[in-house]
Amino acid sequence: MEYRNLGKSGLKVSVISVGAMTFTEKGWRSSGSMSFSEIQKVVDYAIDRGVNFFDTADIYAFGESETLLAKALGKRINNVIIATKVRGVMDENDPNCRGLSRHHIFNSVDKSLKRLNRDYIDLYQVHWWDNQTPIEETLEALNDLVRIGKVRYIGISDFSAWQITKSVMIQECKNWSRFVSAQMYYSLLGRDIENEVVPACEDLGLGILPWSPLAGGFLTGKYKRKEDFPEDSRYKRMERHFLRFDFDFAFKVVEELEKIAKKYNTTPSQVALNWLRAKKFVSSIIIGVRNIKQLEDNLNSVNWTLEKEDVEYLDKLTAPERPYPQWFLDMFADL
Ligand SMILES: NC(=O)c1ccc[n+]([C@@H]2O[C@H](COP(=O)([O-])OP(=O)(O)OC[C@H]3O[C@@H](n4cnc5c(N)ncnc54)[C@H](OP(=O)(O)O)[C@@H]3O)[C@@H](O)[C@H]2O)c1
Repeated sequence: MEYRNLGKSGLKVSVISVGAMTFTEKGWRSSGSMSFSEIQKVVDYAIDRGVNFFDTADIYAFGESETLLAKALGKRINNVIIATKVRGVMDENDPNCRGLSRHHIFNSVDKSLKRLNRDYIDLYQVHWWDNQTPIEETLEALNDLVRIGKVRYIGISDFSAWQITKSVMIQECKNWSRFVSAQMYYSLLGRDIENEVVPACEDLGLGILPWSPLAGGFLTGKYKRKEDFPEDSRYKRMERHFLRFDFDFAFKVVEELEKIAKKYNTTPSQVALNWLRAKKFVSSIIIGVRNIKQLEDNLNSVNWTLEKEDVEYLDKLTAPERPYPQWFLDMFADL
C-alpha cells in the first residue's frame, strides 16, 4: 500500500481509503445494504491490505454507519484514521439538528464520538456549505474542537473554490486551525473540480479526497448498453440519478476502459482507480464497496501502474469543456 500525506499535514493516509456509506444493515438511499458479517470481512481485509483510513458521516444511515464501522474495527479503532462529517439533517423536526452552527457542531461531535466509541475524531469534515450560518461561526467552532482535543484535523467536503479560499483565508487571519483536505466528487465521468477547486486546493495545501471514484459503480463495466441493469446494483436501485453524466458518453468511456484493462489483464474498475492515483493532488481515493469481492478488485489497483501514455489518453478522452475564464486563462497563460 502506498501512503500519502493528507494535504500539507503530516498525517499519512493510505492512497485507497474505504468509505462506509454502504455500512448499513437496513439500507440507506441508493447505497444498498450489507450484513454485519460482510462489513466485518471488508474491514478486516482492508486492514490486512494496508488500508489505514476510513470515511463515514453522521447522516449515513442516520448514525448506523458510524456505529457499524466502530463495531467492525473493535479494538483496532485507535490504530486507524477515521474521518466523519457534520452538516446533514439528523432530525427533521428540529431546526437546530442540521447545518454548521456552533450549536449543531458541538452536539454532533459528541454524538459521533459516542457512536464511534472514541475520544477523538482524526478528520472532522463539514459535509457541505451552510448558507444560513456565518462561516466565521463554523470555523471558530471547529478551531475550538481542535484546541480541546475532540478533533485532530479538519476538512471540507463539497465546497466551491471561493468557499474553500474564503474559509482558509479567515483561518489564517485568525490563526485558527486550517482545513487540510477537500472531499469532492471526482472520477473519469466527473472532472469539474479540475477547473477551480483543484487549483485552489493545490495553492492552499489541501489534499483532495475523491468520492464516488467509480461514479457509483458505473465505471466497473457491469452496466452494459442495451441490457437491463444488473439486479441488486446501485443504478438499478436508484430512482433519480444522483451523479450528472451523459449515459451515452459514459458507455463510451467504459468501452475504452475495457480495452485498456485487457492490455494490463485487469478490470475497468482498476484502470479507473489507477487514473485517479496518477493525480498527485489526490491524497486518498475513497472507494465504496458492498462485498469482499469488490474490495479485492479495487484494492488490487495499487499493485500495478498505468503507463503515462494511457493516463494521457484517458485525460484527453474525458476532458470536460473548459468554462470561462479558464479557456481564456489557458490561452494567455504563457504571455
Ligand atoms: N462527501 C460526499 O458528499 C460524499 C458523497 C458520496 C460518497 N461519499 C464517500 O465516498 C465513498 C465512496 O462513494 P461511492 O460508494 O459512491 O463510491 P464508488 O466506488 O463510485 O461506488 C461504489 C459502488 O459501486 C459498486 N462497486 C464498487 N466496486 C465494484 C467492483 N469492483 N465491481 C462491481 N461493482 C462495484 C458497488 O455498488 P453496487 O454493488 O450496489 O452496485 C459499490 O457500493 C462513500 O462510502 C462515502 O464515504 C462522500
